[in-house]
Amino acid sequence: MKGIILAGGSATRLRPCTKVTSKQLLPVYNRPMIYHPLNTLIKAGVKDILIIIAPEYAGHFLNLLGSGKEFGARFTYEIQDEPRGLADAFIVGENFIDNDNVVMILGDNIFEDDFTDAIKNFKSGGKVFAKRVLDDPSRYGIVEFDDNQKAISIEEKPKNPKSDFCVTGLYIYDNRVIKIAKNLKPSERDEIEITDINSWYLKNSELEVAIVGGEWLDAGTFDSYLEAQILAKKKLAAKMII
Ligand code: G1P
Repeated sequence: MKGIILAGGSATRLRPCTKVTSKQLLPVYNRPMIYHPLNTLIKAGVKDILIIIAPEYAGHFLNLLGSGKEFGARFTYEIQDEPRGLADAFIVGENFIDNDNVVMILGDNIFEDDFTDAIKNFKSGGKVFAKRVLDDPSRYGIVEFDDNQKAISIEEKPKNPKSDFCVTGLYIYDNRVIKIAKNLKPSERDEIEITDINSWYLKNSELEVAIVGGEWLDAGTFDSYLEAQILAKKKLAAKMII
C-alpha cells in the first residue's frame, strides 16, 4: 500500500495567514499541521509516502520533512502546479503509485482513529470513512444510507444534504483509481472531484463506507482550525509517534 498526502491548494479560506506560507505548515498546537496526517499514515504502517505540494512553498516542506528517514519512512515529493481537485492526486501520483493500491489523506485532516486494520485488510475496490457532522453538511461530500445502513449516494457539497454523514479525507483505493481519475470531467467549480471517484466505485457496488469512531476535523476554516488545536492539545499530541 502506497500513501499520498495531498498538501497543495492555496487555502484562500485561511487568508491572510496563508499569504506567506502553506496551510499544512501552520501549527496545530505543538506540531505543523501536516504532522497529523503523516502520523496517521505512519502509525498505520504506511511508510512509502508521496507528498503533493504547491510550488510556492515546496522548499519549506523539504526543509521540514526531508527524506523521511527521521520518521522511519520514505518521502517522495511532487509539485501540483495548479489546484485541479483532490482526484488529481492520482494523476500527479501515477508513477509513484505504480501497480500498488493507495491510501490518500488530505493534509488538513486530523483523525483520532487508527487505520492499521482497514489498510492491512484492504483487498480491492474503494473504502471511505464517514462521520456525522453537526454543522454545515453542505461543506462536505455527503453520503446517504438506506434503512440497512448501506450507502446509496454520495454528493459533493450538496445544497440540500440527504444526511449529515460526511465523507472524511482518508480514502483507500485499488490501482484502478488512476484510470478512473483520468476519465473524470471537471465539475462546476472546475475541479476533478474525489466524490466522482467514490460514486464510480459505489455504482459498481465496490465502495465500502465505514464509520469514523473517534474525533475528526478538517482544519480548513478558522473555526475548525481553532477546534483542531484544542483537540490536539487535549487528546492527540500525547499519542503521536512523530
Ligand atoms: C474535500 C472533499 C469533500 C470532503 C472533505 C473532507 O472538501 O471535496 O468531499 O468531505 O474534503 O475534508 P474540501 O475541504 O476540499 O472543500
